Amino acid sequence: PGAGWAIEAEVVVVGSGVAGLTVALRCAAAGRRTVIVTKARLDAGSTRWAQGGIAAALGEGDTPEQHLADTLVAGAGLCDEDAVRTLVTEGPGAVRRLIALGARFDTDEAGALALTREGGHHRRRIAHAGGDATGAEISRALVAAVRAAGIRTVENALALDLLKDAAGRAAGVTLHVMGEGRHDGVGAVHAPAVVLATGGMGQIYSATTNPAVSTGDGVAIALRAGAEVSDIEFVQFHPTVLWLGPDAEGQQPLISEAVRGEGAHLVDAAGERFMVGQHELAELAPRDIVAKAITRRMLEQGAQHMYLDGRHFGDAMWERRFPTILAACRAHDIDPVTEPVPVAPAAHYASGGVRTDLAGRTTVPGLYACGETACTGVHGANRLASNSLLEGLVFAERIAAAVLAEPRAAAPTPVTAPAPGPLPPPEARTAIQRLMTAGAGVLRSAASLAAAARGLDALVTEGDDDRKPAEPGVEAWETANLHLVARALVTAALRREETRGSHWREDHPERDDAHWRRHLVLTAGRGAP
Ligand code: SIN
Repeated sequence: PGAGWAIEAEVVVVGSGVAGLTVALRCAAAGRRTVIVTKARLDAGSTRWAQGGIAAALGEGDTPEQHLADTLVAGAGLCDEDAVRTLVTEGPGAVRRLIALGARFDTDEAGALALTREGGHHRRRIAHAGGDATGAEISRALVAAVRAAGIRTVENALALDLLKDAAGRAAGVTLHVMGEGRHDGVGAVHAPAVVLATGGMGQIYSATTNPAVSTGDGVAIALRAGAEVSDIEFVQFHPTVLWLGPDAEGQQPLISEAVRGEGAHLVDAAGERFMVGQHELAELAPRDIVAKAITRRMLEQGAQHMYLDGRHFGDAMWERRFPTILAACRAHDIDPVTEPVPVAPAAHYASGGVRTDLAGRTTVPGLYACGETACTGVHGANRLASNSLLEGLVFAERIAAAVLAEPRAAAPTPVTAPAPGPLPPPEARTAIQRLMTAGAGVLRSAASLAAAARGLDALVTEGDDDRKPAEPGVEAWETANLHLVARALVTAALRREETRGSHWREDHPERDDAHWRRHLVLTAGRGAP
């Protein structure tokens, strides 16, 4: 779509979670004209839903080396060690700077940071806020800082595509603003530095912990712009999501790993603790292992969910430590104080994304990616719990440093934006979610993935005379993004003929280091649609 109006800037940040807001704050503080564009409100993304916390070697006796070791094990042989080393060594300082900025974390009686455990961590290493409302507090603090700094923000703005100059460098983004006034409809922000920080893509599945805005926009924009995308087959399914029935769709309430970290048990319908004996860490095994064990037990017993039993915490502990989860359960007539909570895995986190170097640079000059949108190499085949807010923070600071190291420049003259592909029909969104849930969920096979691929292709190629054509607009563009990233994910998942981390192939049940200890990199036309 052609741009009707344009805003001039030096840096445009797309997305307003921990990653985007941190980049914007740093660039603006150094005097760069920075614009944040975000699809809904500043606090509507995934960050504010994060519960358990943020991991960093902040506790007595803990070291970045130990954090590194746990991250590498969780990542199942596919982490980039340099990226992980960067994350864990710069992590503690980044968390301290977040506290200095105004984020209030929980402390113990002595005033030291209170730290909990989650899956895959051998130590108490997770800082938290408001008990189980860590992301909400981080989001509050960052949004307040952005407002105090007077950074220009464009809300209700769906970024559509990357603009490039004649040399192929990033030159800004086109966007559709759902508002009124001067900047309404399709326009653009022109800038020589573009940062994609749009979060994840959980909405490609029927049930996810992600909010409605997580439609893979950043990865889709990057693919259309010719940037490389990596590890996209590794979607993490959170093991303990409140089970609300077989037909539940959209965002589902998370039951934080920290609940297991504080001692809750996973049990089946007979009350048996099935994680004991499966892994030395039992319920606190890395997330992929717990999600698989739950799925296996569900298949064996023909059950639709398992249970998380934290009755022994008692009323006071539930209220003090997990107020958000307690309220969410009670809103669904489940009382964790008196009954085990029904839980099942649901789509939670994209471990892969737009491939970057250690300064967040993608393969398109001037285009950066940060947070869940990016694939920095820190997560490998399975992200370690509570490393995601940390990655957003640490790599945001690195991106800002890289942007600020560039000489100041006006926005280059944009000459190209990718041509929009065919827009899927309105009913395609639910169809995509069902196809992905059935064919590319926790457990996959060549047959299930091929069926998903056929279904996805039919949505855009098969004409149906009775079908309403898609009206160009936010809904249709978002659905096109869901379709594009879903199709790329299925391609990668079909190719990776092994089981590793969160990629579980029924037909290739073993990890195959001889052939597959490598990243799958896709670009438009090379693997990606
Ligand atoms: C949780 O609180 O269980 C989520 C932590 C994470 O996704 O890292």
